[in-house]
Amino acid sequence: MKLFDVYPLFDISIVKGKGCNVWDEGGQKYLDLYGGHAVISIGHAHPHYVETVSRQVGQLGFYSNSVINPLQQQLAKRLGAVSGYDDYQLFLINSGAEANENALKLASFHTGRKRILSAQKAFHGRTSLAVEATDNPKIIAPVNANGHVTYLPLNDLPAWEAELAKGDVAAVILECIQGVGGIRMVTEEFAQGLSAACRRHGAVLICDEIQCGYGRSGRFFAHQWLGIRPDIITVAKGIANGFPMGGVLISPEFTPVYGQLGTTFGGNHLACAAALAVLDVMEEESLVRNADEMGNYLISELKKMQGETSHIVDVRGRGLMIGIELDVPQKQVREALIYDEHVFTGCSGTNLLRLLPPLCLTKAGADEFLSKLKRVLNNV
Ligand SMILES: Cc1ncc(COP(=O)(O)O)c(C=O)c1O
Repeated sequence: MKLFDVYPLFDISIVKGKGCNVWDEGGQKYLDLYGGHAVISIGHAHPHYVETVSRQVGQLGFYSNSVINPLQQQLAKRLGAVSGYDDYQLFLINSGAEANENALKLASFHTGRKRILSAQKAFHGRTSLAVEATDNPKIIAPVNANGHVTYLPLNDLPAWEAELAKGDVAAVILECIQGVGGIRMVTEEFAQGLSAACRRHGAVLICDEIQCGYGRSGRFFAHQWLGIRPDIITVAKGIANGFPMGGVLISPEFTPVYGQLGTTFGGNHLACAAALAVLDVMEEESLVRNADEMGNYLISELKKMQGETSHIVDVRGRGLMIGIELDVPQKQVREALIYDEHVFTGCSGTNLLRLLPPLCLTKAGADEFLSKLKRVLNNV
């Protein structure tokens, strides 16, 4: 059997990681400013993570959601405290798409409504309703195109208010910093106006924090920069540093109903141990603060480069979620970074480099990236 060929691959096989570096099978070292697509939060192969996950798998990797799992309870308590959402409820699943799927479903159960508002260029995952809420017709199969979703321009409050005023919207789903959409930032005025309009019209506000959350923006959640408190928050990616896991944080206004949501694997013992180890390290090493400081440093240095050199036309983002818009195709720059300078970065569209490094990035790592990027841009 061969693999179903849906990924355009770099001709590189990564076999080892440590902190913000990875190595290929030939022993070549790379600087990782991509974090395996925003997934590596505490760094590759952190000793505390390795020890905790290894110990847990030796004791009990999995048992079903039909018995008490004290690790889920510990995770809910710790996540509530660290994020400022003590009074919310946690439902655990295995991925970002599943988190959004369950959030949208809950909003629909709660309101009895079927319509969803989503932003233009939004990305919320590739399953049923999550993909329908994703503004990319190429990945919405005919079976998923059910007309539930209206896509609206980001930050255009009157457009969203007009749809909400129709009184039939179950949920508004929003990335406060769009990832796949190109590091587009929600403004404070829009976020607060939208939150108030959702309340006025009985719609559930869901913040998709799958990429921008879990410390990446320099606060625990990106929406916390904007002074709003959504009804539902979805998380995944960095939550377990690469172990597949997602979570839905649900306001106390939602009453759980036995059997309404459920999953076989979600919240299993091994995933919870991984997520608890992530929170230990995030707290011990002040990684949210580090994301803020390193992000500010990178953004200001990149803006200086934009003034001095060429090819950078815009720098935007928050914390360690940064977009560098170029006047040349990102593909050319990204490939030179990988193959010549041995640096991984992400991308979006044709002209944007996207930085999503582990939250433990050091100043030395940031400087190494900046000098390598400068060299590449001088040669294009
Ligand atoms: C904002 C956002 N939402 C949802 C998802 C989907 O997550 P997953 O690939 O784990 O299903 C992603 C993945 O990139 C994302 O960036």
